[in-house]
Amino acid sequence: MNAALEQIKQLASQAGDSARQPLILALRKVINSLEAPEEMLQRVGSQHLDSAATVIGIDLGLFVLLVEAESPLTVDELAQKTKAEEALLGRLLRYLTSIGMVDEVSRDQFKANLATKNMTAKVSEAGLRHYFYTVCPEFQALPSFLKKTGYRNPQDENHTAWHDAFNTDKHPFAWFGEHPENMAYFNEYMASRRLPEKSWLNVYPVEGECAGWTADKPLYVNIGGNIGHQCAEFKEKYPHIPGRVILQDLPYSIDNALLTPGVENLVHNFFEPQPIKDAKFYFLRRVLHNHPDHRVKQILEHTKSAMTSESVLLIDEVTLPETGVRFDAANDDLTMMAVFASAERSERHWSGLFAEVGLRLVKTYIYNAPVYECVMDVRLA
Ligand SMILES: C[S@@+](CC[C@H](N)C(=O)[O-])C[C@H]1O[C@@H](n2cnc3c(N)ncnc32)[C@H](O)[C@@H]1O
Repeated sequence: MNAALEQIKQLASQAGDSARQPLILALRKVINSLEAPEEMLQRVGSQHLDSAATVIGIDLGLFVLLVEAESPLTVDELAQKTKAEEALLGRLLRYLTSIGMVDEVSRDQFKANLATKNMTAKVSEAGLRHYFYTVCPEFQALPSFLKKTGYRNPQDENHTAWHDAFNTDKHPFAWFGEHPENMAYFNEYMASRRLPEKSWLNVYPVEGECAGWTADKPLYVNIGGNIGHQCAEFKEKYPHIPGRVILQDLPYSIDNALLTPGVENLVHNFFEPQPIKDAKFYFLRRVLHNHPDHRVKQILEHTKSAMTSESVLLIDEVTLPETGVRFDAANDDLTMMAVFASAERSERHWSGLFAEVGLRLVKTYIYNAPVYECVMDVRLA
């Protein structure tokens, strides 16, 4: 048994990006096959507690303390550093140990493991808080929402499980404007979840497409570009290509936007006509997956009306394979459903939407194959 486990650990440490997910699924199935029904129900039924305990660990700085320590720390030492009561901390650490988030070395002594270290990454801190405070409540509301709506595939973005969860009639992005803390977690998560090397900029022939472009014409319009990280990356990579670089988003994002030299920050609601005409690139990253098909078509129509035959609409999204979708993408799909009545889509689904508004998918450039991330080059039909 130990030899088999060692072999699996060895395999896991060497697995590349595309091999890891099948391995994780296989190991999940091994766990499922090991668990008695009551063990499985307690694990699945109490997943909220895993995230709650982890968020508490983050709030207390527990994971950072354990990772930074050169040797194991006692509960007493951790209590002094975090100012939490020792008895409480001991119970929390016992639970975190039981789910593998930290290692118990001996009685009342704990040390970091790889999971502890993972929880100290910026993306984990912001992402876990975003999930816990803004996403998980709608998971809780989803069963009764679907029961109430007769198990129809949600299409109404004004009435989703998210609205039930937060008892509001506001669209989530409007609600964000009034909940700065939730918005800060979301923005930080968005900004840190992607690695710069996993970017459309590494696969798309920007320079070739822009040959002969002149400074009087808009070059790159990032629609729903949040606070402007991608505009900054574009400008940094292509400072020499002439033309305006424009960030567009709602007021709460533009108010907090980066002040990148050469980037114009513009308030624009993408459900209104696109004010920047004849740009070379209109770019939308992870925006359309927040909207149901009928709203996506409105955004596409507004963008299309601003495009000429020289313009390229770049849609940076995931395209789901037809079968065998990995956990995180399937998870995102149901999350999009619960919050926005929207979906993650296959290339076939995307192409159909483009065709319905008089656009055509010219080519899909995949830049992060294991997680299906790609940029679609879309032009006037
Ligand atoms: C999922 S985020 C993606 C942000 C960014 N494109 C990225 O990939 O990091 C969606 C963005 O759309 C913006 N947004 C939502 N509704 C909008 C609207 N009606 N008009 C313009 N921007 C909007 C949000 O503020 C948010 O920044």
